[in-house]
This record gives sequence, C-alpha cells and structure tokens, in this order.
Amino acid sequence: MKYEILNLNIEEGIAIVTINRPKALNALNSQFFREMDQMVVDIGSRNDVSVMVITGEGKAFAAGADIAEMVDMGEAEGTEFSKTGQHTFRSLELMEIPVIAAINGFALGGGLELAMGCDFRIASTKAKFGQPEVNLGLIPGYAATQRLPRLVGLADALYLLLTGEMITAEDALRIGLVQKVVEPDQLMPEVKKIAKTIASKGPKAIRKVKMVARKGWLSDFDTGSALESKAFGSLFGNEGAEGMRAFLEKREPKW
Ligand code: CAA
Repeated sequence: MKYEILNLNIEEGIAIVTINRPKALNALNSQFFREMDQMVVDIGSRNDVSVMVITGEGKAFAAGADIAEMVDMGEAEGTEFSKTGQHTFRSLELMEIPVIAAINGFALGGGLELAMGCDFRIASTKAKFGQPEVNLGLIPGYAATQRLPRLVGLADALYLLLTGEMITAEDALRIGLVQKVVEPDQLMPEVKKIAKTIASKGPKAIRKVKMVARKGWLSDFDTGSALESKAFGSLFGNEGAEGMRAFLEKREPKW
C-alpha cells in the first residue's frame, strides 16, 4: 500500500510515524485507519525496529475522528466506523514493540484515543487534550470510555467524558494521562532519547515486559502473575543469562 496520510522515517531502529493531514488537523478518516493497520503490519514484521513513535504534523496530534466523513452515517455505519478504529488502536496496543505517542498539539476525541492506544505519552507544552464527543451529541467510539478510566481513574475520566472540556498538558500530567511535558522544540529530541534508552535494553525483555503488562492490565492479578513467571523464565539461559553475566563481569551486554 502507498501511504498518503502517514509518513514513515526510520532512524537508528526507531520508526517515527507522522500523521500528515494538517489542513484537517490530522482528523482520522477511513484512509488513516487503512494506512495505520498496514503500518502496524509493516513495522511489526521488521526486526530492525525496536520502538515506534506516533506524532502529528502541524498544530494537531489529531483533532478526532473525521466529522465530515461521519456526518451522514447511519447507525450501522457508525457502529462499523467505531469497530474499525477500536480494532486499529487495539492492534497498536498488541504490537510487540513499544509505541510512544509524541503529542505535539491537539489530541481530541479519536486523537486522544489514538494516544491512549500507545504505551505512554510525552507531550509538548502546546498540547491540548479532551474527549469533546458530547459537544457533538456523540460519545467516544474508539474505546476512550474503556481506556480513559483505566488510565486516569473513573472520576477524572468521567469529568473529561461528561464535560467535553479541553485540558492543558500540565493538567494531563497531573492526572497521569501523559508521563512528561516538554517545550515544543524539545518534544522529538526527548522522545527519541527515551526511545533510544528503550532500544538499548534487552530486546526480548522489552517485548516480554510489554506483553505481560498489557495482557495483565486487562485480566486478573493471578492470570497476569502467571504470565509474568512464564515470561521471566523464558529469558533465562539466553538474553537474561547474557545480561546477568555482563553485570557480573562489569561489561556491557551483547544482545
Ligand atoms: N474532523 C474533521 N475536520 C476537522 C476536525 C475533525 N475532527 N477537526 C478540525 N477539522 C478541520 C476544520 O473543519 C477546519 O477545516 P476547514 O479549514 O476546511 O474549515 C480545519 O480542520 C481547521 O480547524 P479549525 O478552523 O476549527 O481550527 P481552530 O484552531 O479554530 O480549532 C479545534 C481547533 C478546537 C481543534 C477545532 O478544530 C475542533 O473543535 N475540532 C473538532 C474536535 C472534535 O470535536 N473532535 C472529536 C471528533 S468526534 C470523535 O473523535 C468520535 C470518536 O471518538 C470516534
């Protein structure tokens, strides 16, 4: 597939995916979802990429699902449009490698849902966050009703979902929706630095820790703990052995 909306740059094992539809504030349309589905497959099949980063071109990360595309939909189409986006963002969560959202500007509605499908979020001081669907007589369709309460707690989630209020990066940091806020010109340098740190660790360990945390998040404690033990054990005798030996021999590990 030829990418029209997504730009891909691979630098030192880090795939930077930029949503490039700035005139519509990177509103998420059907083409975006087709391309993102393909991107997940393309990046997921490369063994030279350790971390994926998603960001937006211009003043938005993404200002939501494309309202112009949704306006004339009926119930069945609306339901399908929701399922398509839910599937795409779930497949981001299930990628083996970590996915970081680099939030440069507006992350609203479906745009915030995209950011929440990433493993964590770094924001510019210019970023703005919200679930404004109720302003349109809608509710979120890409699982914000499920992810937001799990990420920030029920009361802060319902505050955002019910008021439709747009909050600053500072407020997003306070409620734990983003993990770090930096000046706009520092956003990509900081995200690349974090991605490189992750990429320098044991590659199997990185994939396992994401898998166990992700699956455990949506299951009960004992199921998650059992997954952890199995994954922990699987690193012995190979990557873990090298990491531990390197520590004891006071040298850098060779993954
Ligand atoms: N869908 C389609 N087009 C959008 C859009 C969206 N979500 N957001 C912005 N645009 C378009 C605008 O229509 C405008 O297009 P034209 O230049 O052709 O008029 C262009 O992007 C620039 O937008 P504005 O002129 O509005 O820019 P602004 O700086 O004055 O305002 C904004 C910025 C506050 C983000 C405002 O654009 C806005 O409120 N956007 C809509 C946000 C929203 O409601 N998002 C939720 C969508 S519903 C959803 O996401 C459902 C779901 O969960 C599945």
